[in-house]
Amino acid sequence: MDTPLNVADFERLALSTLPVMVADYYRGGSGDEQTLRDNLSAWSRWHLRHRVLVDVDAADPSTTLQGAEVASPLVVAPTAFHGLAHADAERATALGAKQAGAAMCLSTLSNTPVEEVVAAAAPSPVWFQLYVYRDRGATRAIVERAQAAGCRGLLVTVDAAVLGTRERDVRNGFHLPEHLSLPNAAPDAGRMPARGGTSALARYVGEQLDASLTWDDLAWLQELAEIPVWIKGVVRADDADRAAAMGVAGIVVSNHGGRQLDGGIPTALALPEVVEAVAGRCPVWVDGGVRRGTHVLKAMALGASAVLVGRPVLWGLTVWGAAGVAAVLHTLQRELTEAMALCGAPTVADLTRDLVRPDGA
Ligand code: GLV
Repeated sequence: MDTPLNVADFERLALSTLPVMVADYYRGGSGDEQTLRDNLSAWSRWHLRHRVLVDVDAADPSTTLQGAEVASPLVVAPTAFHGLAHADAERATALGAKQAGAAMCLSTLSNTPVEEVVAAAAPSPVWFQLYVYRDRGATRAIVERAQAAGCRGLLVTVDAAVLGTRERDVRNGFHLPEHLSLPNAAPDAGRMPARGGTSALARYVGEQLDASLTWDDLAWLQELAEIPVWIKGVVRADDADRAAAMGVAGIVVSNHGGRQLDGGIPTALALPEVVEAVAGRCPVWVDGGVRRGTHVLKAMALGASAVLVGRPVLWGLTVWGAAGVAAVLHTLQRELTEAMALCGAPTVADLTRDLVRPDGA
């Protein structure tokens, strides 16, 4: 293939090199993968209404996230096990984010210690995605490490009380090779179970993570953490209202990339009700199915202040390591800048709700 031009090109290249078990883990979703597909197609259900005769000579997607300056509203989404894509794992992802001037969110389930990732990304800001373990002492230790390392905030995942069944992973007996561990959860939960008849991740989540998590536990985390606590995995106005009323630092509209509840609402359709319910009390970020700069633009016009990209970053990481991550982020930034210019929206402040209309409206 020629030089990859867009995210789909990176995806094709990555899938042609990755072992099936890894490719399926990264690209797959739960159940029939309906939500996985709908996340992508739902962005097309919003149509753009461009403004004309606006000076866009210097269209610029730069913005600030929790006070940190970034090149664009694109954030590297938390995805697990980058060591399966590249030997330099999350260190390479962090370097790629830094090269692109992008923010990053590191998964609890990373193969690289949080301290190394924050150092490699600097001065780009890093947030930490938190899974809450049954063992509260272990959870506390992870929080303390993330904040000591310099993470800007915790994104507490709340859509994974149990792991959605990813049938590809069950069939492939998904597991981590011996040399990969989970250093952020070490020592107690620092290793995934060995290869077995089913997904080792499903067994790990079942054994380690707390399916009894409630709003009280969120309050406990807010009390415990010295850095801002966000909530990730919200798709409803009532949940968003409750979280905002509790004073969360931000809300991420997410269905976990279609990997949890299959048949769940695509995030492009959930975003407006969450933004409306929050009514400016905290920032709203979104992920799911973002593959083009126009998708980022639509999300921003619908009220998001940042957009997370997961799988595209993994494709870049697979193909060229840090340079691939930077290339994917630059590609999306270039597309976003072009779409902003063509929409007559020279700055992110110009990405307002009037730019989008639902299909058929
Ligand atoms: C991990 O968080 C996953 O969704 O596989």
